[in-house]
Amino acid sequence: MNDLPTDPGTDDGALLSVRGVDVGYRTGRRTHVTAVHDVSFDLHPGQSMALVGESGCGKTTLGLGLLRLLPRTGVIPSGEILFRRKDGTRVDVRTLQKENLRRFRWSEAAMVFQGAMNAFNPVLRIEDHFVDTFRAHENGRRRPRREILEQSAELLEMVRLDPARVLNAFPHELSGGMRQRSLIALALALRPQLLILDEPTTALDLLTQRSIVERLAELREQLRFSMVFITHDLGLAAELADRVGTMYAGRLIETGTTRDIFHRSRHPYTSALIDSVPPVAGDLHVPESLPGGPPSLHALPPGCSFAPRCAHALTDCDLTRPTLDVLVPRGEGLSHAAACLRSTDAEIHAEGVPR
Ligand SMILES: Nc1ncnc2c1ncn2[C@@H]1O[C@H](COP(=O)(O)OP(=O)(O)O)[C@@H](O)[C@H]1O
Ligand SMILES: [Mg+2]
Repeated sequence: MNDLPTDPGTDDGALLSVRGVDVGYRTGRRTHVTAVHDVSFDLHPGQSMALVGESGCGKTTLGLGLLRLLPRTGVIPSGEILFRRKDGTRVDVRTLQKENLRRFRWSEAAMVFQGAMNAFNPVLRIEDHFVDTFRAHENGRRRPRREILEQSAELLEMVRLDPARVLNAFPHELSGGMRQRSLIALALALRPQLLILDEPTTALDLLTQRSIVERLAELREQLRFSMVFITHDLGLAAELADRVGTMYAGRLIETGTTRDIFHRSRHPYTSALIDSVPPVAGDLHVPESLPGGPPSLHALPPGCSFAPRCAHALTDCDLTRPTLDVLVPRGEGLSHAAACLRSTDAEIHAEGVPR
C-alpha cells in the first residue's frame, strides 16, 4: 500500500491513515474557508514525519485537525482520520465524541505547541499540571498525589530536567527551553502512541533547540511513539524525520523519505525550500529563487497553486491541478510522490527517471 490519495483503502499496518481530509474555518453560518485540502498519508508505528512549508501553508491547521484541537470555528468537512488504538481497534478521529475523544487525546495522541507559555496555565505550578493531567485520565481509582509526583519526576528526568527545581515552579519561573521540555514530558505522561509537535523549538536558541531535538529522537527510539513534526526549519526536519511531507497552499504536494526529499526532490517548491536553507542550520530564509508568497486561501489559482511562482511552469500548469502521483512506490507509506506535471521531466531533474 502507499500514500496515494487515489487509494481509498486503509493501510493495515498504519497507526494513522489520513484520507482525503479537508480542514477549514467557518466564515459564516453556512460558509467556511478551506485551509487544508484533500490531504492523505499513512504514518506507521515508530515513524517520524516532518511537515514542512512556508508559513500559512496549513501545517498547524492540519496538526490541530488530526487531534480535533481546532478552535471553535474550525471544521473538518470531509475525509477520514483513521487511528489504531492501543487495543487494536480502529477509530475515525473525525467522528469521535465526548468521552472517546477525551480518552483519545493525551492517552493515545498528544500535541506539543510552539509557545509553551500559552499551553501552561500561568497560575498553576508545573506539578499541578501533571497532577491534573493524570487525574483527568484515571478510571475510578484516585491515585495518591505522592505517587503521581514520583511519576512526574521520572518524566521530567526523561527530558533532562531537575524535578526538584521544576515541579515546584510556576511556568514563568522557567526558561523557554525548560518550559518546552516540561511540555514534552507532560505530553508523554500517558504514553501516547502519537506525538504531534508544532514548531516546538522555534523560539529557542540554537543550542537549546539542538539538545531538545536530540533528546526527542532518543525518546522516540526508547518509547516507540510515532511523531509528526511540524517545522519550517528543514535542517531540523532532516535530523528528526524518516520522511517529509511538503505542504503548499493547504495541500500535500510532495512526500517521500528524508533521503528522497533532500537528495532528489521532484517538486520545484520543495527544491526551492531546500535551496533556501543556509549552510548552517537555522531558520528558513526567504529564498531569492522564490519571490512572493503562497496564494491567498480566497484566491487559489485554478491549476497548480505554485505555478505563479514556479520557474518551470508551463501553460498546462496554470490550467490543470496536478495530483499527488507516486513516482517510486515503497511500503509503509514511504513512497515518493509529487504533485507536479513536470515531476519526471529530464529538463528539470538531471537524473531523468526517478529512483
Ligand atoms: N483561527 C483561524 N481562523 C481563520 N483562518 C485561520 C485560522 N488559523 C489559521 N487560519 C488560516 O489558515 C491558513 C493556514 O494557516 P496555518 O495552518 O497556521 O499555516 P502554517 O502553520 O503552515 O503557518 C492561513 O491562511 C491562515 O490565515
Ligand atoms: Mg503554524
